[in-house]
Amino acid sequence: MQAIRQKIVVLGTGGTIAGLARGAEPGRYHAARKPVDELLAGVAVPAGMTLQLEQVAQIDSKDMDLAVWQALLQACQSHLDQAEVRGLVITHGTDTLEETAWLLQALLAPRKPVVLTCAMRPADAPDADGPRNLADALAVAADSGATGVLAVCAGRILGAREVQKLHSSRLDAFGSGEAGDIGRVQAGGVQWLRDRPPSQPLGVLDAVLAAPALPRVEVVLSHASACGATVDALVDPETAARHSAAPVRGLVLAGTGGGTLHREIEAAARRAQAAGVRVVRSTRCADGWLQPRADDEFPALPLNPVKARLALMLDLLAH
Ligand code: SIN
Repeated sequence: MQAIRQKIVVLGTGGTIAGLARGAEPGRYHAARKPVDELLAGVAVPAGMTLQLEQVAQIDSKDMDLAVWQALLQACQSHLDQAEVRGLVITHGTDTLEETAWLLQALLAPRKPVVLTCAMRPADAPDADGPRNLADALAVAADSGATGVLAVCAGRILGAREVQKLHSSRLDAFGSGEAGDIGRVQAGGVQWLRDRPPSQPLGVLDAVLAAPALPRVEVVLSHASACGATVDALVDPETAARHSAAPVRGLVLAGTGGGTLHREIEAAARRAQAAGVRVVRSTRCADGWLQPRADDEFPALPLNPVKARLALMLDLLAH
């Protein structure tokens, strides 16, 4: 029997990794300009692998939206189903990479690797970091130990649940918090540092693919001298209607420290909850998780605020 030749599919979505300083004002650049096939020029392909390239989107990831996520989910699903596909690499902007990573893991929980990578410098910078990150991501996607949704940046392999952008300009911009990185890539060699428990997909992929919009969930930060009027205005259906916006179905309160809330935010959140809005808590701390407790007035989610927002959106869609 002839062995099936293995393939890595690279899906381009834009970001600084595809950015160009050429044509921008001095010291600036435009994200999402260079097509994915040009990003791969000169990048080492792991032995025994062929590449297939697909431009799914070309955006600055600050503008990520449901339509792009739907296109990406569809592309991932159809490629992962093919026997000859060893894994996927997704080029993505750094700014919302953690949200896309969490969503793909929650909805697909793939056994094959889906590796997101990125860059902090544009593709035409003399010291661009994109080519190295892309080569590392390909090495991870080809590695027999790789599974699930991963992020690869600056030689680090981070899990979809923990990955978080922590620095606005450093090349090594991401962290995994106290959970720690899953592995690292050094001189093209992949080293695994810890296992991850397997997870199951949430079972709402079809609903997300068919949805014209996800339930509206907003994040509110608790801080010193806070005012409850912000929460009241957010959940007021007449305000939403005046702005032709969907009514708010859920709130993520990014609390202080262990998820505590300013008394004004807490009182307003109680009013919102009484009006039928789902309210959950996360923490504004960059590290450490909230421990959910059975008697939580506003359930705590052990995720950062932007991932907790996605989790609540998916839960509202499912129920
Ligand atoms: C983006 O997120 O698309 C722009 C910023 C970056 O990739 O670093």
